[in-house]
Amino acid sequence: MTAATATLAERIRRDFPALDQTVHGRPLVYLDNAATAQKPRAVLDAITGYYAGDCANIHRGIHTLSERATEAYEGARGKAQRFLKAPEAREIIFVRGTTEGINLVAHSFVRPRLKPGDEILITAMEHHSNIVPWQIIAGETGASLRVAPIDDHGELILDRFERMIGPRTKFVSVTQVSNALGTVNPVADMVAMAHARGVPVLVDGAQAAPHRKVDVQALGCDFYAFSGHKVYGPTGVGVLYGKAGLLDAMPPYQGGGDMIRSVTFEKTEFNGLPYKFEAGTPDIAGVIGLGAALDYVGKIGLDNIAAHEGELLRYATDEVLKVPGVRIIGTAPKKEGVLSFVVDGVHPHDVGTILDREGIAVRAGHHCAQPVMARFGIPATARASFAAYNTFEEVDALVRGIRKVKEILG
Ligand code: ALA
Repeated sequence: MTAATATLAERIRRDFPALDQTVHGRPLVYLDNAATAQKPRAVLDAITGYYAGDCANIHRGIHTLSERATEAYEGARGKAQRFLKAPEAREIIFVRGTTEGINLVAHSFVRPRLKPGDEILITAMEHHSNIVPWQIIAGETGASLRVAPIDDHGELILDRFERMIGPRTKFVSVTQVSNALGTVNPVADMVAMAHARGVPVLVDGAQAAPHRKVDVQALGCDFYAFSGHKVYGPTGVGVLYGKAGLLDAMPPYQGGGDMIRSVTFEKTEFNGLPYKFEAGTPDIAGVIGLGAALDYVGKIGLDNIAAHEGELLRYATDEVLKVPGVRIIGTAPKKEGVLSFVVDGVHPHDVGTILDREGIAVRAGHHCAQPVMARFGIPATARASFAAYNTFEEVDALVRGIRKVKEILG
């Protein structure tokens, strides 16, 4: 631990009202950040500020409140563009979250290009949201889903991945960081491999965007999706980035207000980017809150967050492994944010329940990644996941909690 990183977590904790509470009489230790991160006051204030002062619909009214709301909403688009280093603001589509971003690409970009025998390639460490949409469109078109394997550490077998990109591969969709294992994938290399064969790529950034700088131009990916609520923003809002040329050529995902230029009963002319993909009144407050979250993360600095969380994860890994009978699931050399583990002879749900009695919040279950659990021959894990505000003392509390689990049930 360095003084600088300790100061970072200690200093910013005060910004998060929810962290300042007790659970079952113990100070809350919130280690379920991969499920959702807590929100800083700046985000809560931005949401309240919209509802309390600027509440109006966007892009529609010429009155002052509507102009203010539109300015704040479109301002957040610029923030998301800078956050991802996207070349143009119109390449930023606001969606409900990563899941909706992937579904949009599946239905609007990939499905119309599929014919029987075609293939969509994913990896064995994907979240259900990067499996099921592809299964649905594969089922509808006669295409099939191929899965690049991972090794016993939970690392992608990169040469197998590369060899699986063939003439039938029409699309590749991969996670940047595994939510169940913490594995970091070499997505820039994977994109280059797919592009060398003319195959477009979506990167699921849900577990990466909160922890590291993202540069979609450096990654070279065609689409990138992340969720607001994991980057300290509100739930129900997220971002899909797509290359303008691809988005432009795609049909709309949903029809409704705001995504049109003109409508008659005979014919509708669609709006341009990004509005073509934002039918109906969007989550205006959520988008404004997300903008505030991206400002907040920018102020702390993603390099500082990455350094701090990296130290926390290393420390937690070392300390948890000192407890006899505890096994870490996911031991890839490059990991981020997530420590999944099992305790011999104890069901992960019981681990989660006993930790909760100690005020410690972790996720226990299959983490919406049942195929990952199957790969490791287990039904579930307990998962501690870290954010910028977590401290080394909280890791110590987790380890004490696991020892208590063993005392009670081991
Ligand atoms: N995908 C989120 C998680 O891993 C909800 O917990």
